[in-house]
Amino acid sequence: MRLPKLEILDEKNNILHKKSEEVTFPLSDETKKKIQDMQDYLRISQDEKLCDKYNLRAGMGLAFVQTGELKRIFVIVHEEEENKFKNYVLINPQIKSVSEEMIYVSEGEGCLSVNREVEGIVPRHARITLETYDLEGNKKTIRAREELAVAFQHELDHLNGILFVDKIDPKDPYKNKDKMREI
Ligand code: CO
Repeated sequence: MRLPKLEILDEKNNILHKKSEEVTFPLSDETKKKIQDMQDYLRISQDEKLCDKYNLRAGMGLAFVQTGELKRIFVIVHEEEENKFKNYVLINPQIKSVSEEMIYVSEGEGCLSVNREVEGIVPRHARITLETYDLEGNKKTIRAREELAVAFQHELDHLNGILFVDKIDPKDPYKNKDKMREI
């Protein structure tokens, strides 16, 4: 797999704070190509050797806005088991339901657009159900829990112009920690 040419914008770029717009079907060839590139990029970034070779940071998800396009699309590459990867492409996703139970990632979240150390935790729902469209424009329902649920919520925030750092109060970066489960 070759590293695709993909420019990932830094948080300093104001477009990351804009709301993305719904996509219409059929998808253009350029959009399909970019989805493929994003999947390849994430997969390569999660490979120890290739990650070193290309000097990348490991990433689990990318939203279109991070490449400068305000489209409601995101891609996730999730390592379900050791060396078993599953790709998700969500287009115009909408939240159907969320669990009351809240969780947070103990080591904090990361983002390919945030190139600095950030202290603090982000409250996320432990489980989430989304309605979304696939590449062909078919509606489907997806459920996620734990780490994958966090990734979905992180990417959904991108579609609404929100970065994980926006959800951390620098004066109280571990706010409500005791009310949530650590993962
Ligand atoms: Co991100």
